[in-house]
Amino acid sequence: MAELEGNSAVWTHKEEELKRRIKHLLKCDVSAENLVDERTVPKADCLLTAWILETISQDETSYCNNFKKMSALLKLGGHLVLIGDIQGSFFIVGGHKYHILPIGEEFLRKTLEDEGYSIVFYSAVGRNAEKQTTNYEKIVCIIARKVRER
Ligand SMILES: C[S@@+](CC[C@H](N)C(=O)[O-])C[C@H]1O[C@@H](n2cnc3c(N)ncnc32)[C@H](O)[C@@H]1O
Repeated sequence: MAELEGNSAVWTHKEEELKRRIKHLLKCDVSAENLVDERTVPKADCLLTAWILETISQDETSYCNNFKKMSALLKLGGHLVLIGDIQGSFFIVGGHKYHILPIGEEFLRKTLEDEGYSIVFYSAVGRNAEKQTTNYEKIVCIIARKVRER
């Protein structure tokens, strides 16, 4: 962000500012039926998810269900930032191999549209390193606005 604003030297200040604004940390299991207690946690203006949905979902149906549960945390008019892998099936960390769900860009776009999102920014960057620790084809970064409730 600091680099985009033309002043990458002040990123430590941004980090401090972000930390200062965090009010609560809540742990949640995205595979559970209810992610948070909706009576006490207000809907958010912005929801960021990075490499979670493809990690925890066994198939496209469970990806859509997990997406719906996350999406319920976001206000109508709020923005979703979704970062993830395209057509990856594993990653290795600390010698452990974790399986992930390979998903395509068309599936991702359709999931967002079906769930009431309008995509305002879409970037897909191909893999340029031949690492053996993962096999994704692209990384996507999407910003989408929630324009209707399902
Ligand atoms: C590929 S890592 C991504 C981590 C982080 N979001 C990032 O961008 O670096 C996948 C993460 O999913 C988390 N995870 C696995 N099962 C989960 C679940 N049921 N609910 C929430 N998070 C889960 C793991 O703890 C792990 O941190």
